[in-house]
Amino acid sequence: MSNRLNATPNDLRAFWMPFTANRQFKQDPRMLVGARDMHFTAADGRKILDGTAGLWCVNAGHCRPKITEAIAAQAGELDYAPAFQMGHPKAFELANRLVDLVGNKMAHVLFTNSGSESVETALKVAIAYHRAKGNGSRFRLIGRERGYHGVNFGGISVGGIVSNRKMFGTLLTGVDHMPHTHLPDRNAFSKGEPEHGGDLADELQRIVTLHDASTIAAVIVEPVAGSTGVLIPPKGYLQRLRDICTQHGILLIFDEVITGYGRMGAPFASNYYGIQPDIMVTAKGLTNGVIPMGAVFVTAEIHDAFMTGPEHLIEFMHGYTYSGNPIASAAALATLDTYKEEGLFERAADLAPYWQEALHSLKGEPHVIDVRNIGLIGAVELSPISGEPTKRAFSCFVRAWEKGFLIRTTGDIIAMSPPLIISKGQIDELIDGVRGVLREVQ
Ligand SMILES: Cc1ncc(COP(=O)(O)O)c(C=O)c1O
Repeated sequence: MSNRLNATPNDLRAFWMPFTANRQFKQDPRMLVGARDMHFTAADGRKILDGTAGLWCVNAGHCRPKITEAIAAQAGELDYAPAFQMGHPKAFELANRLVDLVGNKMAHVLFTNSGSESVETALKVAIAYHRAKGNGSRFRLIGRERGYHGVNFGGISVGGIVSNRKMFGTLLTGVDHMPHTHLPDRNAFSKGEPEHGGDLADELQRIVTLHDASTIAAVIVEPVAGSTGVLIPPKGYLQRLRDICTQHGILLIFDEVITGYGRMGAPFASNYYGIQPDIMVTAKGLTNGVIPMGAVFVTAEIHDAFMTGPEHLIEFMHGYTYSGNPIASAAALATLDTYKEEGLFERAADLAPYWQEALHSLKGEPHVIDVRNIGLIGAVELSPISGEPTKRAFSCFVRAWEKGFLIRTTGDIIAMSPPLIISKGQIDELIDGVRGVLREVQ
């Protein structure tokens, strides 16, 4: 029976939940009703240690006063402003702050409402840029196996997760994929960047030779692939991609939806690796996950290519009703303030060695076939149950929830990415929790 007015819903049928085993969930719901700092509160009152920053997004921890107050104040002052042919000051302030934060050649920002929309925006900018420069034959997009770029058609086309693609028909045409860089036979239990596999970037050269550079608009990769189970780029790999793209006039898009906003112990992975992409896709940590918002960064060269023709004409036929929404902008500004005032990116960098050692202490525990880490990201790969892939890791997730901490699983990989405010004691608690679960599950 429907119970629409009560705070605790007791009819779970109507909501078709995203990326969720709906039938399993609805038999045994995991319901969150509150959150503060490093913890969620479950419906039964239990405190749940957040080992995943929600979905890789709550980098400053939960219900941070500066952010919640900024949202409330903005909602009372200017709730909405039309995004097309109109502006409001905070969106401009935010774009300037973001460009300052990244501190490289990124000079302009387009706002979106999610990582998926940021990806679509970036792909469209890339193709339209070449056309604006008179290179209309450059339409191909190159992604990578096991890449995750959200769930819209462009994103799943360049993405490389089979189960996210196989149900949805022909997808975009003109897309090719590089091989992924996960080499467990050679790189298992690497700390930080793995030694082997940098030469896999040369597969891009092979693809360029196959299609001819004159047909290729852009290459898109996650600097560290997150959703597919934390695949860390081998030494030299990203720089080699950059070099090949530069050599052939191909735009390099970094999808930093996970790696952005301090996750690596630097503002962005581009800063961490010292590599300049042409376009950078972000979302999640931009607003601490509190309000949907994404930001796509582009270089001046890309932006300026569009600024031609009569001045009364719209230069780029793209945008969203909520691009740069005032409340989202206020949330993002307060988030950036919080990161800065609390030195959270530096904190993540300082904690990374402790995180690494704690994670790698799981080597030798039951089922563990690999542990890998970078910044405040970690993964523990498990041997699958024969004939039942994903089941062992999912059991770990459910058992962890029961024991009071949140991890994330993809395939048979446990991924962790705590808020950057985590303490060393809480790192121990989380890792010891995983250790206990590994010893319990079949
Ligand atoms: C690298 C990457 N790109 C894009 C997305 C999609 O973001 P959203 O779920 O906000 O659409 C994600 C989400 O996890 C991501 O990890």
